[in-house]
Amino acid sequence: MQALTVKPGTAESLCLAEVPDPVPSSDELLVDGVSLGVCGTDREIASGHYGWPPPGRDRLVLGHESLGRVAQTVPGSGFEVGDLVAGVVRRPDPVPCGACARGEFDMCRNGRYAERGIKDLDGYGSEQWCVETGYATKVNSELTRVGMLMEPTTVVAKAWEQVYRVGERSWFDPRRVLVTGAGPIGLLAALLGVQRRLDVHVLDRVTDGPKPGLVESLGATYHHEPIEDVATRLCPDVIIEATGASQVVISAMSTTAHYGILCLTGVSPPGRTVHIDAGALNRDIVLENDAVVGSVNANLRHYRQAADALAAADIDWLEGLITRRVPLSRAIDAFEPRDGDVKVVIDIGSA
Ligand code: BGC
Repeated sequence: MQALTVKPGTAESLCLAEVPDPVPSSDELLVDGVSLGVCGTDREIASGHYGWPPPGRDRLVLGHESLGRVAQTVPGSGFEVGDLVAGVVRRPDPVPCGACARGEFDMCRNGRYAERGIKDLDGYGSEQWCVETGYATKVNSELTRVGMLMEPTTVVAKAWEQVYRVGERSWFDPRRVLVTGAGPIGLLAALLGVQRRLDVHVLDRVTDGPKPGLVESLGATYHHEPIEDVATRLCPDVIIEATGASQVVISAMSTTAHYGILCLTGVSPPGRTVHIDAGALNRDIVLENDAVVGSVNANLRHYRQAADALAAADIDWLEGLITRRVPLSRAIDAFEPRDGDVKVVIDIGSA
């Protein structure tokens, strides 16, 4: 079968390759790939800056934003042939650490976790794949065209959970949230903010393309001015940062309301230095009891939260996030950024 493979650490190594058909173990589903979302992490891996192949190999099957249809099930697993499923990305570390031992592998303490399509495990970018029944999640059958948004939605479900858990260290009644970055993570974070009935604002650089309209149709407000101006005016209780851009990250730290929470979700490359007034920043965070929290990945609880969020969302709005679809045969095109891209999807098989 065909798979999208890459040699981590080597730029321009991404290609479609013929690989052996997968053979499920007794606890694995065999799944026909339906589609695959492409995200910034995939592009980082494709450009040679991130990613680890399975031990003993030099190539990795890419892809972690999966959607597939069960082709062969495990009796008693609760999955039926034909069910739409997404595969969980992370697997616990083998030690395991205390967090992984408790199912909180998204909070792994020793970094020895594995991630499908990213770190030590083949991903879901192939015509068929296998997944353990305990790491497969059902996707609502109405979400055939958009179900690959499950994984990025789990990432924002976790981020929102973190915000509330951090906030609940004292009285917490957030009203206004600013999301920085109107890519898929920012827009999905905005969706979950609207679902929590918050006053949601989204900031991005662009003034045209689909982003302003996607924000407005959520019932949120779109901004494109510098973050200092927007955040100073809005004084948000919560900022969800989804650009990973150094200057935006630093500005966000000092522009929340008192008792503000900044949740960082963007994975940035190292080496991007900025000049900051650390004294003023420290004073601001201390005197306002502000909190800055990083959030990555998602555990099974967040997959359930994401499934609920997607089920409650407007499917046309979700479909509006997908600005480009390419067939598996042209998968490489999905990695060439184009103006107006929000989410690019690779269609693998028939839905
Ligand atoms: C994925 C996460 C993963 C992270 C770091 C993100 O793109 O969505 O599941 O943990 O990259 O590898």
